[in-house]
Parts: sequence; C-alpha cells; structure tokens
Amino acid sequence: MKEFKRTLVTSALPYANGPLHIGHLAGAYVPADIYVRYLRLKKEDVIFIGGSDEHGVPITIRARKEGVTPKDIIDRYHYQMKETFEKMGISYDIYGRTSSDTHHKMAQDIFRTLYDNGKLIQKTSEQYYDPEAKMFLADRYITGECPHCHNDKAYGDQCEKCGSALSPTELINPVSTVTGCKPIMKETTHWYLPLDDYQEWLSKWILEGHKEWRPNVYGQCKSWLDMGLQPRAVSRDLDWGIPVPVEGAEGKVLYVWFDAPIGYISNTKDFCDANPERGSWETWWKDPETRMVNFIGKDNIVFHCIVFPTMLKAEGSFNITDNVPANEFLNLEDDKISTSRNWAVWVHEYLEDFPGKADVLRYVLTANAPETKDNNFTWKDFQARNNNELVAIYGNFVNRALVLTAKYFDAKVPACGTLTDYDRQTLEEFKNVKERVESLLENFKFREAQKEAMNLARIGNKYLADTEPWKLAKTDMERVATILNIALQLVANLSIAFEPFLPFSSMRLRTMIGAPDCNWEQLGSIDILPADHQLGKAELLFEKIEDAQIDAQIEKLENSRKQNQAAEKKANPIKQTVDFADFEKIDIRVGTVLECQKVPKADKLLQFRIDDGLGGRTILSGIAQHYQPEELVGKQVCFIANLAPRKIRGIESQGMILSALDNDNSLAVITVPKEVAPGSEVC
Ligand code: MF3
Ligand code: ZN
Repeated sequence: MKEFKRTLVTSALPYANGPLHIGHLAGAYVPADIYVRYLRLKKEDVIFIGGSDEHGVPITIRARKEGVTPKDIIDRYHYQMKETFEKMGISYDIYGRTSSDTHHKMAQDIFRTLYDNGKLIQKTSEQYYDPEAKMFLADRYITGECPHCHNDKAYGDQCEKCGSALSPTELINPVSTVTGCKPIMKETTHWYLPLDDYQEWLSKWILEGHKEWRPNVYGQCKSWLDMGLQPRAVSRDLDWGIPVPVEGAEGKVLYVWFDAPIGYISNTKDFCDANPERGSWETWWKDPETRMVNFIGKDNIVFHCIVFPTMLKAEGSFNITDNVPANEFLNLEDDKISTSRNWAVWVHEYLEDFPGKADVLRYVLTANAPETKDNNFTWKDFQARNNNELVAIYGNFVNRALVLTAKYFDAKVPACGTLTDYDRQTLEEFKNVKERVESLLENFKFREAQKEAMNLARIGNKYLADTEPWKLAKTDMERVATILNIALQLVANLSIAFEPFLPFSSMRLRTMIGAPDCNWEQLGSIDILPADHQLGKAELLFEKIEDAQIDAQIEKLENSRKQNQAAEKKANPIKQTVDFADFEKIDIRVGTVLECQKVPKADKLLQFRIDDGLGGRTILSGIAQHYQPEELVGKQVCFIANLAPRKIRGIESQGMILSALDNDNSLAVITVPKEVAPGSEVC
C-alpha cells in the first residue's frame, strides 16, 4: 500500500431541501466523523469537508410547492442542517455551501477546462417541454403512468411504487406537474461527459486496482461497467443552478451532479484560504501524497466512483478518490425511510426530545450501521441499547469505579500493589484493544470497532463483579487499592476508546477523571492515571430511557402512518360527475351466495354461484385474499346485474360483486342488514 502524508475526508453534501433524518446520519455522517476523529487522535493530517448541496430539481420543486424562492429554501435548510450536524458532534473542518461564489467559480472553471480541452461532447436531442410554462421539464417535473406497474403517479426518472428507473419518454400519458398540461417534444442542446471513453481506464482502476473496496461498492461499480457506460449529460435547461460558462448557453445550468462533488473542492479552498497554516487547497487535491476518502450512501455510488472520477481524470490535474466506503440504507421500524411520507426520525426533533443525548443516537446508529446490508432502526432497540449497554455496562462500570474510589480513597487514584493472576488475566484481555480497534477503523468496520470499545467496559464490569472490592474494604485495603487502580485505568482507557464514537460522553468522562486531554497512544496501557491523581466529581454518564419516552416516539410515527392513509384517501378523488340518466343505467341487485370456491391457479379469484331470483348466475371476484370461500356462503351480497359478461380464465363472469376498500387495503363485501328476496333492486 502507498504511504500518504495526509487524508482528505468528505461526506456527501446533503440537499438543502429538507431536514436531516437518521438515515442520513447512519449513511454518511456518523461513520465519516468516527473516522476523522480517529485520524485526528492519531495526530494525522486530516481535514473533513462537508456542506450543503443547494442546486438540483428537488429544491426548485419544494420552493414551487411553498410559493417561495429556491434561495429561501436553501437558506432555511443550510443553516438548520449545519446546526444539526454541530449538535450531533459531526466535526467538520468546514461546512460550506454550493451557492457560494467560490463554488460557482470553481465549478465553472472545471467545466470550462473540460470544454476547452475537447473533453465534452455537444449533442442536440428532443426533450419534453411545457409549452404553457415555456420551459423544458426536468424528469421529476413529469408524471405519468408507469409502463411496468401502471401506477399513474410515476415520475419521469423513477416509479416509486415498483422502484423501476424510468426515462420520461417511457411514461404513458405524461403530464407536466408545473402546469398540468401535456408536454411536447422540443430540441435542445447539451454537453455530455463521454463516460464510454473512460470505460477501460475505470475498469482497470476500480476492478483491478481497488479490490479492497467494500463488496457493495465494488459490486455496483462492476455492474455499471459490465452494462457498458454511456455519455452523460452534464448540463440542464433550468433556471436554478450554475450557468454553463459557454457562449450561447443562456438558460442552461450545470447538472447538479456535475457541480455538487466539485463542492468538496471549493469548500476545501474556502477552508484553506481561511486557515493557510493547513496548506493550500491544491496540496489537498493535487499532491499525490494526499489521499481522499468519500463517505456516502449507496444511492450516490455511481456518481462518486464513476462520474466524478471521470471528471477529475478528464481535467487531468486532480487526485482521484482512494476509497468510497458507502453504506446501504437504514430502515425505520421495518419500513423504508421516506421524507414525503414523513416516515423518519428527524434529527433536530430527536435532539429536542432527547436533549443531551446526541451520543446515544450515535451509538445506536453505529451499532446498527448498514455497512454490508440494509439495517433497521426501531425505538425499542434504541431503548434497549441505551438501557442495557450504555447504562448497564459502560455507565455502570464507570460509576462504580469512581464512587468506590471516592468512598475509600477520597477520589484519589490508589496505588497499584501486587497483581494476582486474575488481575493479569484481565489486563491481558485489553492489551491488544488498540491494535484491534485501529485495524477495524482503518478498514471502515465501525460497527465492530465500537463493539470492541464496549467490550472493554464489559471486561471492567466483570472484573468488579468478580473481585467485589466493596466486600474487602474492611479486611484488605491494599487489595482494594489494586483493584480500583486497575478499574480506573480501564475507565481511562474507555474514555479514549470511545472518543471517536461518543465524543460528548468521552469528554465528560475525562473531566470526571481529571484527565481532560485524550491521548490515543495511551490506549491499552495500564498506567494512564498516576497514583494519587485527583479525580473529579462522579456523575452518571448515561441515564435510563423510560417506556413513556419511547411510546411517545412510536406514537409520533403512528400518527404519520395515519396521516399518510388519510392523504392517500384524499389523493383518490371523487370521479367525474355523472347525470342521473347515466346512473340509472346501472342495475344493482341483491343476491344470495349459493356456492363459493377458489379458482385453481389464480390466487386472487373467487367463483360465486348467486341466487339472483332469476335462475342464478356465475360471478368471479378478485377477493380471494380477503375471504375464505366458506365465509361467504349464505350471505346476501350486492352485485351489478347488467354488466356486460366477461371471460376470466375461461369462465364467464356475469356481473360484479361490490365491496368497500378500506384505507389499509383490506376489503369488506357489501351485504344488506336485513334479509331481502334474491333479486331485490338496490336503489
Ligand atoms: N445531494 C446528494 C444527495 O443527497 C449528495 C451529493 S454528494 C456530492 O444524494 F458529492 F455530490 F456532493
Ligand atoms: Zn411502476
């Protein structure tokens, strides 16, 4: 492996179109922060770059919805996110924004260099245009019917119902969401990055050169490369973004995924300009002895591993990333986190509901980090990890060690006497912790690394439980001194080992033990606190979280679920008005179910024989998932008696049985409250 002098760490620039939720934190921010804090503790030269991504269509959509300008939106969320990150202890060296002058200039310069050196292709094609709004429509501004699942609210880039990636031209009956009118095709010119020209270089660089990347990242890159890369447009017809710096490109802006990653560079520049002692921005981006690590979520992989590296390679003077430890997704209570459905734990709300508990969330998100596969956050697990791990193991051990020392030795570290075999065995167990944690962190295995730290506390807890110093206090104070000395050294070790993960608690703990500085090199040693060293005041490091608090959070989510169901109902508007004459054409009758059976090889269909007062008829109904056939025999149901017969699975269905569809998609067949003669009219 190459040796590096410094490390540039970035985490994905979140869109400034809404608040941060726990999925964001778990995906790209907590792991990046752990890594950076670790490198800083090792006294490595590192900077941590972040910022808001302030262009792109989601921001304009949000602005349009609220009737404000995109600038209003980004100002609101940029500052809110910045504050949330600070409160969560995400220790950026700079949190910039892509609306800054530095960024606009940097992005335009890079585009211009590519353009001037013939690295971009110019192409004219037809795209959807809204003739009423007089604008080209971004994919997200077009909705229509999904060609796969026939959801009629699919977006031009994706169907959220079946998850298929779409292009706007695939939509059936496309509609502009700006004006509601039907878009037309119109010619437009754009610049493209010819990814296909870099296919070979990328394959070599990633598939041969970076086998150490996480399997999910490597695998996704491989599948993109296997499919064969295509040129990608790097400009858009939009009025929000960075103007394309080319004559005759009025009304065109850089594609958000072209400018956003350049934000890492421009934010580095702003940081270095303000902190010249940290070197020039070029040192961080162009010196071959600098390495770069990008923390992201899995939906960003192609942009960070294929598109951005190609841009940098084409430009020619920049370093290219060294590793992209992307995480998979975090689900919430077994459901996909969704902003639009308000199915999320919003971090700023968490911090209000659980003041002073940023570390608890950091701990739980790392313990459940979606490092290799999607993972799940539940409030019950959150409570259990706090109560059974942070409180019962870590907090309890620290508290016992400090309280006993206060009681027997006036809160001064007692001297260590002769060690027993058991003492030696215990010390042996945490001797290698530094090496283990380091190797895990350097391989981006944050979950395992945190487990190692917690394991130290487990060792400590067991040591006190086994040696029971409180029982020896009357007979053997020398032994008590040794035991507490060892326990306190372990406590000091814990404050170091947990520093990258739980920075707030580590700092408090170090105040409690009167050793404010954290020195990573001391991790694993047993003489961190000298004899006679004065400890500070013991406080509880963590506190129990009660059921009521958890129930309140679960209820909050339940409310979201209810609101979503109500919204879905509203989204199912009343059909067009029909006049009475049309209504009268429908003949609805009551019939008695004589027989009912499943239709073989059709899991949804039930076949009914109905006494309709006219000799009987057969009706098929797609309700087999809601009823057992025998439940319905003898019931009186309502059916449409004059519907044109249809053949389904070779059986003629002579009508339609009426049911009510509930919000949760369950179904109730319509019956009559009092028995009536078969064939009675519903009127
Ligand atoms: N805003 C993007 C998202 O939230 C991430 C941009 S990362 C950057 O998915 F590299 F482009 F900045
Ligand atoms: Zn679909």
